Amino acid sequence: MNLMVFGAPGAGKGTQAKFLVEKYNIPQISTGDMLRAAIADKTAMGMEAKKYMDEGELVPDSTIIGIIKDRLEEEDCKKGFILDGFPRTLNQAVALEELMKNSGKKLDKVLSFDVPDELIIQRIAGRRVCSKCGATFHIEFNKPKVQDICDYCGTALVTRKDDNVDTVKNRLENYHKQTAPLIDFYKKMGVFAQIDGSQELSLVTEDMFKNLA
Ligand code: AP5
Repeated sequence: MNLMVFGAPGAGKGTQAKFLVEKYNIPQISTGDMLRAAIADKTAMGMEAKKYMDEGELVPDSTIIGIIKDRLEEEDCKKGFILDGFPRTLNQAVALEELMKNSGKKLDKVLSFDVPDELIIQRIAGRRVCSKCGATFHIEFNKPKVQDICDYCGTALVTRKDDNVDTVKNRLENYHKQTAPLIDFYKKMGVFAQIDGSQELSLVTEDMFKNLA
């Protein structure tokens, strides 16, 4: 199954993608996580991407499309994948279609989490992430068992550098301008499913799986 989780920054894409990974045993392909790994490794691409990410701007399409092309060719994607945070522009969506066509694949479902901007800001302000395994928590809505410690690997939780109010506002603005127009693109393809992402976490998960039944 080839899936995509879609929505504004902080809409819950990464959180819900983890449940899809567990259920279908297919990899989550998060461009945000891949870029953060490249920054941690101090690669040239990572250092270039960091300039954009720190400001809440999108990394150039050519960089992102190159990363995705290489990743989708890896062995573990043969039985399916979950795209998280890609595509974010029309150019990226068209490039993805081309990549899928060339490899004889098709996108089965775009799961879009709809969350109002005010709630997004609240969610991002309270988000804490594991610096080792990338697991995501929230200080109020999705608490770790032990405060500030990852449930899965015991590493200290941190706040992402781009999770500050000014950067989040910019990320939201870029989402509405450059990414939200993709909703029509995927509606026309007949693969788009809208989910009320503002509900309590487990209800969002329930709705997501109903759309895949
Ligand atoms: P990326 O890492 O993809 O960030 P994002 O899209 O801004 O999304 P987030 O990871 O912030 O949010 P999410 O939807 O996964 O929410 P989460 O589940 O964590 O990208 C970062 C940057 O990289 C971009 O700004 C850009 O610069 C660059 N980039 C990446 N991809 C790119 C691309 N394709 N093109 C160009 N540039 C690219 O949830 C958020 C919080 O809410 C958590 O604390 C969670 O616990 C909580 N939560 C989740 N669901 C619920 C719920 N139902 N109720 C209450 N709380 C909830």
